[in-house]
Amino acid sequence: MAVLEKKSSQHSIELEDKYGAHNYHPLPVVLSKGEGVYVWDVEGKKYYDFLSAYSAVNQGHCHPKIVGAMVNQAQTLTLTSRAFYNDKLGEYEKFATEFFGFDKLLPMNTGAEAVETALKICRKWAYEKKGISENEAQIIVCENNFHGRTTTIISFSNDPVARKNFGPYTEGFIKIEYDNLSALESALENNKNVAGFLVEPIQGEAGVYVPSEDYLAKAKALCEKYNVLFMADEVQTGIARTGQLLAVDYGNVKPDVLVLGKALSGGAYPVSAVLANDHIMNVIKPGNHGSTFGGNPIAAAVAVAALEVVRDEKLADNAFKMGELFRSELNKYIENSKIVNLVRGKGLLNAIVINDDEESETAWNICVALKENGLLAKPTHGNIIRFAPPLVMNKEQLLECVDIITKTLKEFE
Ligand SMILES: Cc1ncc(COP(=O)(O)O)c(C=O)c1O
Repeated sequence: MAVLEKKSSQHSIELEDKYGAHNYHPLPVVLSKGEGVYVWDVEGKKYYDFLSAYSAVNQGHCHPKIVGAMVNQAQTLTLTSRAFYNDKLGEYEKFATEFFGFDKLLPMNTGAEAVETALKICRKWAYEKKGISENEAQIIVCENNFHGRTTTIISFSNDPVARKNFGPYTEGFIKIEYDNLSALESALENNKNVAGFLVEPIQGEAGVYVPSEDYLAKAKALCEKYNVLFMADEVQTGIARTGQLLAVDYGNVKPDVLVLGKALSGGAYPVSAVLANDHIMNVIKPGNHGSTFGGNPIAAAVAVAALEVVRDEKLADNAFKMGELFRSELNKYIENSKIVNLVRGKGLLNAIVINDDEESETAWNICVALKENGLLAKPTHGNIIRFAPPLVMNKEQLLECVDIITKTLKEFE
């Protein structure tokens, strides 16, 4: 006789612990359902999701239009590989390039793969268009960056936990301070072989660091002056998260290479992409780059639906308004708080900095208490807690969340 296993959080946690690699440290909550701004655990408790799967679920959990497009395509054609054409990829490429204003798109699956793709395009452009000698190209990156987990990407990370014992590292990167234009200018001046500058418009994983207002525009101007590609990694900041379609839109900056992922599918499916104009993208020829799943028909159908939702539901606008409200409400609390130093961010990508040292457990303990009170968030680094709910959140829900957050913080004052 089959034994009926009762589903419990504890059981799921034990399974992951025993049979899964321990490459994450999750909050002790086991989710089994999501809808809009809410998720439910296996015991049926409801939470506000204030992480949105690291800003992938911008359109809200299980958005019916996105799920509908996915189910419909899954029942029709799932994967052809790029050995053949499929009838969805071209439509998606046309839609997305017009949506973001570029000539061409290269489809991949995860954020890290898209970053790798951008780095390869940049190097090839440097050798074939800029005239840098083979194997000499350098790419400038920023300290405290987060661009993913591949061997090359961690080669230019300065997070010891992400790097240690994964060497030898990939060469060809120059690290400079974030939000420091003179560091950028001197790196450009002192190195003839710079091919590109890779930057997050807001450093998300590092703790939601928003650079000075003119940083991106001036960095782009410097890149133009030195004939270097300005590559914006908008995997986390893009697709309405920060209150504009792209975070670079705040500075009216047009990147040479745009990297997207996460919310490109609304969290329904792994979809990422690199966008660039022809004079850059055309360096990529058959055989240079690819992925079995990149550009598959499900991804293409899902991405079009996900972008249509962003446009039709005016999510950038909503993120902007809800973000202003969130920070102003939290600031009222912070004025008299001993436990929170500040709130910062743009749109609905925000973080609070806890008044405790980086190694303390306070931020983690606050997140556990937030969970008890019905809201899920996670520390980024040390004493910083990121708040990034789905962008479909309305005012009433947001104010309820502010209540939960301030009530929880009071327990720690
Ligand atoms: C800015 C940025 N780039 C790249 C990535 C990597 O994306 P993925 O986890 O899909 O590989 C992330 C993930 O958090 C990110 O925030």
